[in-house]
Amino acid sequence: MGNSAARMIPVPKIHVAILMDGNGRWAAARGLPRSEGHRAGVAAVRRIVRVAPQLRIGTLTLYAFSSDNWERPAAEVASLFGLLEDYLRSDAAECTARGVRLRIIGRRDRIPLSLQQAIDSAERQTAAGRILELRIAIDYSSREAILRASCWMLSSLEVSDREFARRLGQVTNGGVAAPDVDLLIRTGGERRLSDFMLWESAYAELHFTQRMWPEFDVADLEAAVEDYFGRERRFGRLPDGAAAS
Ligand code: IPE
Ligand code: IPE
Ligand code: MG
Repeated sequence: MGNSAARMIPVPKIHVAILMDGNGRWAAARGLPRSEGHRAGVAAVRRIVRVAPQLRIGTLTLYAFSSDNWERPAAEVASLFGLLEDYLRSDAAECTARGVRLRIIGRRDRIPLSLQQAIDSAERQTAAGRILELRIAIDYSSREAILRASCWMLSSLEVSDREFARRLGQVTNGGVAAPDVDLLIRTGGERRLSDFMLWESAYAELHFTQRMWPEFDVADLEAAVEDYFGRERRFGRLPDGAAAS
C-alpha cells in the first residue's frame, strides 16, 4: 500500500544542459584529425541520451554548434554539419522508439539545406515522444536569442519572466518555453558559458569537469546528477529550517 502511494508522487524531472567541449583536444592527443574527435563526440551523445531518462532528466539540451563556431575552418564546419545530419537521420527511429522528442534550437537560415531537411524530418518523426525532450543547439547564440526576444517584446509595457521565456523559446525554435536549466555541465576543462543558455541558467548548478567530451561516460553523468541532487538550492531564500532571528 505504502508502495503504491509512493508511486503516485510524481518524480521531479530536471533540465540538464551540456557544453560538449574537448573533441578537438581529445583527437589531437591521439594524433587524430579534429573531425575524428567530433565523430567520437557523437558516440558520447548516444550513450548520454540513452541513460538520461533513468537519471530523472526530463529535458536535455546539448550545445553542438555555437554561432561563433562559424569562425572555424570551413572544412571543420562542414564535417560537424555532416555528422549532425547523419545523427539526426540515423537516430530518429531509435529516439521515437524510446519516447525521445527531438527539437533543434538555434538559427535555421544559415545551415545547409540538407541539414534543415534532416531537422524537419527528425522533429516530425519524434514529435510524440514524452519520456525525454532532447534539444540540440545548432547555430545557437544565447545573446542573440535574448536580443531577438527583447525586440519582439518592445511594445509590451510589462513582461513577466514566464512570458519572456516563452518568447525566447519561440525565437530559438524551441516551441514552448523550456524549463529553467537545473544543472549545467561543461566538459573539456574550461569554466565559461560561451554564450549558452544565459537566461535559462540564472539559478543553474554548475558542474565543470576536466573530462573531454568523447570520453564523458554514463558514470560521469551519474556522478554529476548525484552531486546535483545533493546541493541545496535556495533561490535567494534562507536555507530550509533556518529561522530568521
Ligand atoms: C566541442 O569540441 C565541439 C564544438 C565546439 C563544435 P571542440 O571542437 O571545441 O574541441 P576543443 O575545445 O578544441 O578541444
Ligand atoms: C562551445 O565550445 C560551443 C560548443 C560546445 C558547441 P567552444 O570550444 O566553441 O567554446 P570556446 O571557444 O572555448 O569558448
Ligand atoms: Mg572547444
